[in-house]
Amino acid sequence: MEQKRSTFSGRLGFVLAAAGSAVGLGNIWRFPYLAAKYGGGMFLLVYLVLVMTVGFSLMVAEIAIGRRTGRSAIGAFRALNRRYTFIGYLVSAVPFFILPYYCVVGGWVAKYWAASTLGRGGLLADSGYFDAFVSRPIEPLVWFFLFLTLTALLVLTGVEKGVEKVCKWMMPVQAVLSVLVAVYVMLLPGAGEGVAYYLKPDLSRFSIRTVLAAMGQMFFSMSLAMGVMITYGSYMKEEVNLHTAVRQIELFDTGIAFVSGLMVVPAVFAVAGPQALDTGPGLMFVTLPRLFDRMPGGHLVGTVFFLSVLLAALTSTISMMETVVSILQDRWGWSRRGICVAVWAVVLLAGVPLSLGYGPWSGFRVLDRHFPDLLDFMTNQILMPVAALLTCLFVGYALGPRSLIEEARLKRGEAAVFTVVIRYAAPVCILLILLTSLLSFFGVLQI
Ligand code: PFF
Repeated sequence: MEQKRSTFSGRLGFVLAAAGSAVGLGNIWRFPYLAAKYGGGMFLLVYLVLVMTVGFSLMVAEIAIGRRTGRSAIGAFRALNRRYTFIGYLVSAVPFFILPYYCVVGGWVAKYWAASTLGRGGLLADSGYFDAFVSRPIEPLVWFFLFLTLTALLVLTGVEKGVEKVCKWMMPVQAVLSVLVAVYVMLLPGAGEGVAYYLKPDLSRFSIRTVLAAMGQMFFSMSLAMGVMITYGSYMKEEVNLHTAVRQIELFDTGIAFVSGLMVVPAVFAVAGPQALDTGPGLMFVTLPRLFDRMPGGHLVGTVFFLSVLLAALTSTISMMETVVSILQDRWGWSRRGICVAVWAVVLLAGVPLSLGYGPWSGFRVLDRHFPDLLDFMTNQILMPVAALLTCLFVGYALGPRSLIEEARLKRGEAAVFTVVIRYAAPVCILLILLTSLLSFFGVLQI
C-alpha cells in the first residue's frame, strides 16, 4: 500500500528547509576564500549572474521534477521516462559520497564550537592546534560520531516535525548571527582594507578560472545535481509558487555567502594580513580562532560564530541524509526508522577511514593522491557536473522544457531564459568545467 507522502507545511517551511540545505560550509568557508582568490568584486558579479541564470534554471528544473512526480530522484526519472532512470541513480549517488565527508568536517566544527563555549579559545588559537587535532586518531572520530548521530536523530523525526521545524528556527538564527559577527569584524582596526579587497572588482585578477570557480561553487552551494532539490520538491505542496520559492532560496544562499565573505576576509586582513588568505581549509579553523583570541569579547564572538557554522552544516547534512533516506524509502518501501539506522551505520563506516585520512592514515594514497582529496575531486568535479549535464540534457531534449515550465508557472520571459539555459548555456558551461577539471587532474593544465 502506498504511504501518504509527507509535505512541508507551506512556502516558508519549504524555502527555509531548502535554504537550510543550500547554506552550509560551502557558503561560510569556501565562498569567501574563492571570492578573495578570484578577483573580489569581479567574482561576486560573475557568481551573481550564474546564480540568476544557470542556478535558477537548474533549481527550478529539479524542484519541478520532484513536485510533478512526487518522487525522489530515482523514482522521479523513472516516472518521467523509464529509459532515463539511470540518471536518477547517478544523481542519487552524489549525497552518498558527500555525506560522510561533510559529517567529518561537521564534527570538527562541533569540536571548535564546544571548545569556544568552554572558554578554550586560547588553545584553538595556537598555530599548530588544528593540525594536531585532526591528526589525533580518536577525538575527531568521537566528534564525527556525535555530529552524524544528531543528524540522524533529526531526520528520524520526519519531514514536517523534524526537518522543517529545525530549519525554521535555525535558518533565521543563523542569518542574524552571521550579520552580527560580520558587523563586529568590519569595525576592527585593519579590517577596512579587507572589505575593499573583497568588494572592489579587480579586473587584473579576472580570467576564465574566475568563471569556472564560480560555477563549481554555485553547484555545490545551491545543493544542485545531488537529488536534494528533487526530494524537497516532492514534499512541496501544489499551491506553493515554485519560482518565487527558488528566488527566495537563492537570495538566502547568496546573501549568507556574501555576508560570510564580509565576516572572513576582513578578519583575515585584521589578524594576519592578505597572505593568510591562501590557508585554504585552515582559514576558518586556524586564522579565525586567532582573531577571536585577540579581540575584546572574542570568546563570545567565537562561540557565536562556530555555533552559526554548526547550524549551517547541520541543516545541510540533514538534507543529504533526508535525500538518501527518501530514495531508499521510495525505492524499496522500507520503514523510515530502519533506513535511518542503516544509513547512519553506512555513513559511520565510510566516515572512519576519511577521518583517519586526515590523521594516522594521511600517508595512505589512492592513484597517488591523498584519498579524502581524491574523493572530493571525484564528487565535486566529476560526478556532480556529469549529473547536472545529464539532467539538463534530459529536461532540454528528452522530456522537453514545457512541462516543467508549466509546473513552475514561469512567465514568458523566464520561460525563454529557462529554455535557453537548460538546452544550451548550462550544458556548454558544465562541459567546460568537466574538461578543465580532467585536464588539470592529469596535469595537462595548471589551474
Ligand atoms: N550546499 C551545501 C553547502 O554549501 O555547504 C552543501 C551541500 C548540501 C552539498 C547538500 C550537498 C548536499 F546534498
